[in-house]
Order: sequence, then structure tokens, then C-alpha cells
Amino acid sequence: MKNDLKEILLTEQDIQDICVELGRVLTEDYKGKDLFCVGILKGSVLFMTDLIKHIDTHLSIDFMDVSSYHGGTESTGEVQILKDLSTSIENKDVLIIEDILETGTTLKSITELLESRRVNSLEIVTLLDKPNRRKADIEAKYVGKVIPDEFVVGYGLDYQEKYRNLPYIGTLKPEIYAH
Ligand code: IMP
Ligand code: MG
Repeated sequence: MKNDLKEILLTEQDIQDICVELGRVLTEDYKGKDLFCVGILKGSVLFMTDLIKHIDTHLSIDFMDVSSYHGGTESTGEVQILKDLSTSIENKDVLIIEDILETGTTLKSITELLESRRVNSLEIVTLLDKPNRRKADIEAKYVGKVIPDEFVVGYGLDYQEKYRNLPYIGTLKPEIYAH
């Protein structure tokens, strides 16, 4: 699997350092609040499990599954709810946990939906941000790392459902896309 990578952008240590730092900031910001973390399946799962270990305050977790991507490397702009939250988020301080913010189409739809549920607050934490690709009017309050406009895999991020289990993040060799 490693042989498919062109370059590593974030090592395991880089990712852990980001989780520690974001965890420190989130611990401060959510002290005494009713924190409810919403992981967006499936890409955010690895990041979520590492990040919440560093948030030192009471919190709950739940997941949503949406599809905006259809197996390729370009977002289609359509978002469909495949799995909704299983509990009420009314009056909660909701924190959406995402792997990557690219065009923003996915997160724009999700935030509009969740905001309509009378939450106390709603913020986004994303491990990666590709601001050059943004189409929707949305930003994450908490960003792990801003990356260039390149397709990345690993640590939850996939190419055709593969590479999610890589412990680090990198770009794929061009010949992988040619298959
Ligand atoms: P957006 O709606 O364009 O912001 O896309 C967000 C979703 O697209 C993310 O949750 C990822 O699932 C996927 N995505 C965007 N960029 C990448 C990438 O570089 N590698 C893998 N998945 C990506
Ligand atoms: Mg995703």
C-alpha cells in the first residue's frame, strides 16, 4: 500500500501533534458546555477517535453519514443524508468533526440541517482544509492543517474506499488513478 504513495504530507507524529493542540483549544472553549461531537462518516472516524482523547471535558458523540462523492476525486455538489443522528441535539453545543473541508458543499448542507434543530451553538473542526477549492460560503473555526489543492489519502481519507487505514496522509502516484 505504501508503494502507491507519491509523497507523505502529514506523518503519524504530525497528526498526533495536531490532535493534542486542537484538543487543548477545544478543552478551553468547551469547558462547562454541553459538548456534542458529530463525526461525519466515514472519513472522520480516525481523526475523531484520536481528537476526543485530548478533549478534557464531558462530551457525547454521534455520527452522520452523507454522500457527496461518488467514488472519484471530484465532488458532485449533491448531498444525501444516509444516516442521521440518533439523539436530539436541541440546546447542545454541537461540534462537527470532519476529515477535510474542500468545496464546502458537504458541510454547508450539514450545518444548515443541524442549525435548524435549535442547537445552542454549532462549530466545525476539520483535520485538513483546502481553501483554494471552496465553492460554498463556509469556514471551519478549528483547522488542523491547511493543505494545497491536491487529492490526499490515508488516516480516514479514501480513494475509491481504499487507503483509509494508512496511519498517515499522503498523495497517490498518478499511475494509481490510471487503473
Ligand atoms: P466538499 O463537500 O467538497 O468539501 O468535500 C468534502 C468531502 O469530500 C470530504 O468529507 C471527503 O470525503 C471528500 N474529499 C475532499 N477532498 C478529498 C481528498 O483530497 N481526499 C479524499 N477525500 C476528499
Ligand atoms: Mg468524508
